[in-house]
Amino acid sequence: MKQLIIINGPNLNLLGQRETNIYGNLTFTEFFDQTVKKFPNVMLEHFHSNIEGELIDKIQEVGFNYDGIILNAAAYTHTSIGIGDAVKAIMTPVVEVHISNTFSREEFRHKSYISPNAKGVILGFGLQSYELAIQSFLDE
Ligand code: DQA
Repeated sequence: MKQLIIINGPNLNLLGQRETNIYGNLTFTEFFDQTVKKFPNVMLEHFHSNIEGELIDKIQEVGFNYDGIILNAAAYTHTSIGIGDAVKAIMTPVVEVHISNTFSREEFRHKSYISPNAKGVILGFGLQSYELAIQSFLDE
């Protein structure tokens, strides 16, 4: 059984409340509960932090023993050399995920410090982006 973790960065704890025209009406807990049921053959966890260093600590903690990391570093995607370096430093493959199509938004969202070292990038499919990322680890 594959052991995967979803790691979510700043403000993603407000899903369902925050800019619902962009991020939808579902809370992450509701979505996660549905997703766990959809993938009964996956050991799936999730972790959220608004704090850059805590995200780096979690990436390091799981990054040598899990089968995959699904990382939505949210705004830190566009700013954090530290998270980018953490992704580079670990052995576990990382799929970068975004709910929105960051390329159709402001220019500052077009830059990612994660992408150069990610296994792949999935964006713009709403919360389904996370499911597509999980599926990508199962199709290997
Ligand atoms: C996001 C896109 C980021 O630009 C933004 O800062 C987020 C969410 C997304 O999932 O679409 O917080 O990562």
